[in-house]
Amino acid sequence: MKRLVVVSNRVADPGCAQALGGLAVCILDALRKRGGLWFGWNGEIVDDDALLGTTRVKFDDLTFATTPLTERDYRDYYLGFANAALWPVHHYRLDLARFTQEAIDGYRRVNDRFAETLAPMLRANDLVWAHDYHLIPLGAGLRARGVRNRIGFFLHIPFPPPDVLVAMPEHEWLMSALVDYDLVGFQTKTDQANFCRFMCDFMGGEMIAPDVLRVGARTVTASVFPVGIDVDAFAAMAESPSATKRIQRLHRAGEPRINVIGVDRLDYTKGLPDRLRSFKRLLELYPQNCKAVTLMQIAPPTREDVQAYADIRHELEALSGEINGQFGDFDWTPVRYLHRRVDRETLAALYRGSQVGLVTPLRDGMNLVAKEYVVAQDADSPGVLVLSRFAGAAEDLQEALIVNPYDADEVAHAMQKAIVMPRDERKERHAALLARVRKHDAYHWMEGFLRALAGCRIPLAA
Ligand code: ADP
Ligand code: F6P
Repeated sequence: MKRLVVVSNRVADPGCAQALGGLAVCILDALRKRGGLWFGWNGEIVDDDALLGTTRVKFDDLTFATTPLTERDYRDYYLGFANAALWPVHHYRLDLARFTQEAIDGYRRVNDRFAETLAPMLRANDLVWAHDYHLIPLGAGLRARGVRNRIGFFLHIPFPPPDVLVAMPEHEWLMSALVDYDLVGFQTKTDQANFCRFMCDFMGGEMIAPDVLRVGARTVTASVFPVGIDVDAFAAMAESPSATKRIQRLHRAGEPRINVIGVDRLDYTKGLPDRLRSFKRLLELYPQNCKAVTLMQIAPPTREDVQAYADIRHELEALSGEINGQFGDFDWTPVRYLHRRVDRETLAALYRGSQVGLVTPLRDGMNLVAKEYVVAQDADSPGVLVLSRFAGAAEDLQEALIVNPYDADEVAHAMQKAIVMPRDERKERHAALLARVRKHDAYHWMEGFLRALAGCRIPLAA
């Protein structure tokens, strides 16, 4: 088997049970089984270029090679271009996008440095797989250094409609870098279609076969590979004795009889203020839920140095305070909001102990929380997933209660439907959802992508 080399900005910490973010979770789940090399940022920031070494750590068949970022790189590449320009644009939020020359220069600089560091580590037969919007030009950087291996790229976040993308300065440079990959993978058919439309309408490309584009002298395959999780490992966590104890504690606390759970990085794409407004509507439209239902929202900090993230935190805190002040009582807190990371075993227990899983992003590449919630349920009396139509997961998980997260009344009605849903219907929906989550698990994703990459033609020598 060829060695797999994965490159991503965020690399999971193998010794930490709190992998945060879909990318780290699904790659770690899939790579544990296959082994290989995982290269990327170690999460540290140094103030001196001289400290930019690479550290190698080996865990079984998996080697982690990681490097820090300088303060300037963190500011320009990570906060600046990746998270204040690409992230909002790809989530259809041009109103929040900020473009500066320093940011785009920083983005080029770090991608160049990653390519320069990685190229000498590669062996002739390695399959190279770059991940996500931080590393769009990495493949081009490797090609410029003579790397002839098959190189694939997977976009974990949405690909926006062409009319949104063209508002971003440098979009032509950025998108032309994508055709240096042999295979580009997307979460959903919508993302793939947006990409192909952009390449054909704005870059002079043409579809020469299903999923295959020719753009100038390059041929690139663009296909859909929905990410998944390690189903058995997560189910085992949810069923463990310690998870059972935690669920008992949750219910023994006296409140609530019905728990609605939300778990998301505190990101404006996750629709948290809209979610709280929907919960408020639930209490207004169905007052029998007062003192009976609690929304537990776990929203750990993320990218707090970007202004839009600081703003969303204030908005969420004000809203949860407002709802608790208006509806709460001495013996009932309607919204329990936790602004911190939780270990995965506790998360699994909280999902299992919650009758409703509320996953209502305004736009999301896939959303693994939706899949985790399904897997964690007791199949004999499962909870109900309420899922945004704008999450990539909705393409597959049609047996959830699919909602428009912008419509507070619609979400409130769906929550009520979930709360009173008869057990037979819950079981039926859950069985269908679980079968889909199992089919599209972490290995299916990785194997599907790697099979397609191995099948791409070998790039011609220059
Ligand atoms: P994103 O990639 O945008 O963060 P996903 O829903 O795809 O969204 O993935 C989020 C991942 O991070 C999930 O595996 C989830 O369990 C994990 N996660 C989210 N919130 C927490 C938290 N508070 N503590 C630990 N892990 C979390
Ligand atoms: O899945 C989307 C994603 O942006 C990943 O690329 C990223 O690792 C994760 O969310 C968490 O974000 P960050 O790495 O910025 O903390």
